[in-house]
Amino acid sequence: MLLHLLAVGDVVGEGGQDILRRRLGELKEEHGVHFTVVNGENASGVGITPRQARGIFEAGADVITLGNHTWNRIQIAEYLDKEPNILRPANYAGRVPGRGFGVYSGPGGVRIGVLNLMGRLDLNSNLDSPFRSADYLLRSARCDITVVDFHAEATSEKGAMGWYLDGRAQAVWGTHTHVPTADAQVLPKGAGFVTDLGMTGPVRSVLGIKPENSLNLFLGGLPRRYEEAEGNCKLNSCLFVIDTEKKRCVDVRRVDIQE
Ligand SMILES: [Fe+2]
Repeated sequence: MLLHLLAVGDVVGEGGQDILRRRLGELKEEHGVHFTVVNGENASGVGITPRQARGIFEAGADVITLGNHTWNRIQIAEYLDKEPNILRPANYAGRVPGRGFGVYSGPGGVRIGVLNLMGRLDLNSNLDSPFRSADYLLRSARCDITVVDFHAEATSEKGAMGWYLDGRAQAVWGTHTHVPTADAQVLPKGAGFVTDLGMTGPVRSVLGIKPENSLNLFLGGLPRRYEEAEGNCKLNSCLFVIDTEKKRCVDVRRVDIQE
């Protein structure tokens, strides 16, 4: 079958959650989406609470992925152990709660493996190698197709991961930088790839936060708490069309809404 998988960029704050709640359902209907993965690590600005995770599931996510802000709302820790459909990066050291890889049932019983990884360049050098973690997890994975959210800062590291997993994963997308990239493509061995999905949050902002907060940082002002920007929001995502028999992505394209 041709599986339509929607990957939604980092949901930022109340505005991001609101547009997701209002618009995800219609997007899924319009594009015949069978399975939806949403990066939720910025639902609280930094981090996500169990209540916010439940809200993202109610909005239509099948799986929530996270990233470098996983532990900023520490109340999520226990929830990660209890709820199999929320993933944190798999290459955290083994002592933290939760899991970074899950296999979920799609239409017709197709087994969809979802892997969440985090990059190390300019982000967190204290992680296990995301490349070796992927090797380890994919070697023993029992699933029909595999898709990967690679939460990373550097476009180079994200690009390298796409090529590294080409032939083993059918979709690899980047998250974290909140700026959508225009390079969606199918790699030679059938992995659909995009460097970054972008974000789901306020349009007039610096990565979702008030521009003055960001300016204050770069102009050397006293550290201040970041606040979510106000105003209209956008929803950035990519649609991956995957041939589950041939184990290849056949099409990947941006699906964006701006209000
Ligand atoms: Fe992040």
